[in-house]
Amino acid sequence: VNKNTATKQLLGVLMLFSALIGTTSFSQNNENVIKDADGDSVVLEPGHPSLKKWLLPEKPPAPDDNQPSLERIALGKKLFFDPRLSRDGNQSCGTCHNPSFGWAEPIAKSLGFQNKMMARNSQSLVNSAYNLALLWDGRKDTLDEQAIGPVGAPDIMNADFEKLLPFLKENSVYKKAFEQAYPGQPITKPLISKALASFERTIIVKNTPFDRWIGGDSQALTPQEIRGFRVFIDPDKGSCASCHAAPNFTDNGFHNIGLSSFGDKEADIGRFKHKKVKVLKGAFKTPSLRNVSRTAPYFHDGSAPDLMHVIEHYVKGGVVKENISKQMKPLNLSDAEQKDLVAFLKALTAPYQPVELPNLTED
Ligand code: HEC
Ligand code: HEC
Repeated sequence: VNKNTATKQLLGVLMLFSALIGTTSFSQNNENVIKDADGDSVVLEPGHPSLKKWLLPEKPPAPDDNQPSLERIALGKKLFFDPRLSRDGNQSCGTCHNPSFGWAEPIAKSLGFQNKMMARNSQSLVNSAYNLALLWDGRKDTLDEQAIGPVGAPDIMNADFEKLLPFLKENSVYKKAFEQAYPGQPITKPLISKALASFERTIIVKNTPFDRWIGGDSQALTPQEIRGFRVFIDPDKGSCASCHAAPNFTDNGFHNIGLSSFGDKEADIGRFKHKKVKVLKGAFKTPSLRNVSRTAPYFHDGSAPDLMHVIEHYVKGGVVKENISKQMKPLNLSDAEQKDLVAFLKALTAPYQPVELPNLTED
């Protein structure tokens, strides 16, 4: 009897012990596992397969009739940084999409032709090549189609094509560069657009600390940044990834996030101008977030001076509630969680890499 009792006691202790180990390891796993907005279980460990959906494809897509080549990229780079494309000879794409400021610019709204203020904040061109909709209101679908737009737009570069086309055809540097890039093809507006797009497809950022962590580098993110990522994807916390979705931090969709400028008398109606669906009134494209720490101020109206102001906007659940997206709701985030989120957004920034400007006078 005694022996039996002793055995039972021993078994009991063993069971308790194994239960304890079980519980401990269960709670540890549980802390690292989270269901994201897609309902997928995500394991917050460096290199875990469940995180791979955040990795960008190796190369962005390019149309069949404009596959990239070194010559096309070099020509596009010249055109991108050449102020002679603008009517007054003082403005290039690089003026408002400045590599030093994350390929955007540090002012709320761009200054266009003869410094007249444009309606919106300059967008970063980082990873635009992966986007399915371009511009804040998605009025263009592809870089090839978009790039010539700002050259001719009266409120932007306002080029005089009657002069610009002959200039490009006669200038010895461009004559040679076009012939090497697109042999036998006449220099036209669509061809200029293709060359610019070829260069834009090289403006790629995917070596951020976050990308390295996803790739398996356990040192790439700090514990705070990982906590911020958790808040970012947790549908009950930040719920940011429901719109800033994998892999390019955008769902390629349009949302009214309740900015105070939507309450203005002549508010910018955004996507609604091009697609008359009520939810799209005041809706703008979800921007990608890689390199976002370099592109302040934020939002299409440039109204948020820094990332903490962006977070404050979301915590309030937006300001103007009229026609606001159903996905916008006040967030239950502690001060610490808000700081974690900002730390995570900063971890989406790649190390600074100076861009060498092209030589416009010779090869
Ligand atoms: C005067 C400033 C200015 C100049 C010059 C300029 N842009 Fe922009 N760019 C903007 C603004 C502002 C937006 C957002 C416009 C909107 O949504 O209505 C924008 C948006 C874009 C976008 C959309 C990015 C995305 O992911 O949706 C692309 C691409 C682009 N510009 C390319 C160019 C190219 C190429 C040139 C030169 C030919 C150029 N821009 C010249 C200010 C400028
Ligand atoms: C309902 C969809 C939605 C949700 C949820 C959402 N965003 Fe956004 N986000 C957008 C849209 C759309 C914009 C652009 C809005 C505009 O300018 O009118 C934007 C803009 C931003 C910008 C500014 C980027 C720039 O280049 O100007 C940042 C930063 C940002 N969001 C971060 C977050 C964070 C962090 C969260 C979670 C707390 C979040 N977003 C949740 C849709 C969303």
